[in-house]
Amino acid sequence: MPSTPEIAAVVGITAISFGLLRYFVQGGICRSKARLDNKTVIITGANTGIGKETAIDLAKRGARIIVACRNESKGTTAAKEIIQLSGNTQVVFRKLDLASFQSIRHFANHFNENEDRLDILINNAGVLWCPYMETEDGFEMQFGTNHLGHFLLTNLLLDKLKACAPSRIVVVSSQAHFHGKMNFDDLNGKKNYNSYTAYFHSKLANVLFTHELARRLQGTGVTANSLHPGAVKTDIARHLSIYQNSFLNILVQPLYWLFMKTAKQGAQTSIYCAIDESIDGVTGKYFADCREAKCLPQGRDDGAAKKLWELSEEMTGLCKNQE
Ligand SMILES: *[C@@H]1O[C@H](CO)[C@@H](O)[C@H](O)[C@H]1NC(C)=O
Ligand SMILES: *[C@@H]1O[C@H](CO)[C@@H](O)[C@H](O)[C@H]1NC(C)=O
Repeated sequence: MPSTPEIAAVVGITAISFGLLRYFVQGGICRSKARLDNKTVIITGANTGIGKETAIDLAKRGARIIVACRNESKGTTAAKEIIQLSGNTQVVFRKLDLASFQSIRHFANHFNENEDRLDILINNAGVLWCPYMETEDGFEMQFGTNHLGHFLLTNLLLDKLKACAPSRIVVVSSQAHFHGKMNFDDLNGKKNYNSYTAYFHSKLANVLFTHELARRLQGTGVTANSLHPGAVKTDIARHLSIYQNSFLNILVQPLYWLFMKTAKQGAQTSIYCAIDESIDGVTGKYFADCREAKCLPQGRDDGAAKKLWELSEEMTGLCKNQE
């Protein structure tokens, strides 16, 4: 039988280890005090999770926030909550379905005609591990939404961003791109569809897109960086079967607490990339935990980035002379 002091020691060491682990998992915090008065920010998927937390933070700094998401009732509810929590009334919902090129074009036209400025674009929305589905235009859902949708959106908003330079583009990718491999023979993932592989693929596409975008924007005063938010517990993974089993769900809650960031913690690197003064002018980089991080060679492959860009132009029907 272990003695009482032994048990106390084991309990104490365990508690301290969990505490340290939790501290480590939470990651960096954006400490910038930058204000964003009279600046306009678009955040895709700002109705939930880290997008919403990013919106609350930037709204508190005085920015005009465009909550761009697909579902009108969720979007307007989120905009109201962001107004309440930030005390900033300049928060509006605009409908944007990233799985529809028509919706993206409509959103961008409306924005370009009605808004004076665009200072920060945060490509945050993402589809994760869904079963095989297609976008309105017939592309695989994760590649089509996470990459192609944001590719088209960003390109349609570039003139506004350039006119407001210095301005920033922030692309929420994921460490998951480490497992990705660009499969140019089957970009759309229709052959042998695997929901995990398709997700990794779309996140690598985010990193390569940012790499090529930054190169094309050299000298314009518009920067583009991608980032890993950390493992965040949000409702993005609702397609996972574990979420549909309430018993399992209860069992894994303590693990979530230990190993996953809250949405607010997960938003820190997005906020950092959007505003921190220490990275003024920094472009084409990859960030995690509020600092520059290592991106694997497949995320810095100039040839692959250029090829992906050209194929994406064709797929989205983005007119070349529009650049
Ligand atoms: C914001 O705009 C208002 C009205 O044009 C102006 O009075 C104010 O100085 C601006 N604030 C900043 C920080 O630029
Ligand atoms: C929008 O969200 C609401 C609330 O979750 C849901 O009831 C509704 O079906 C959604 N609408 C669309 C078009 O997806």
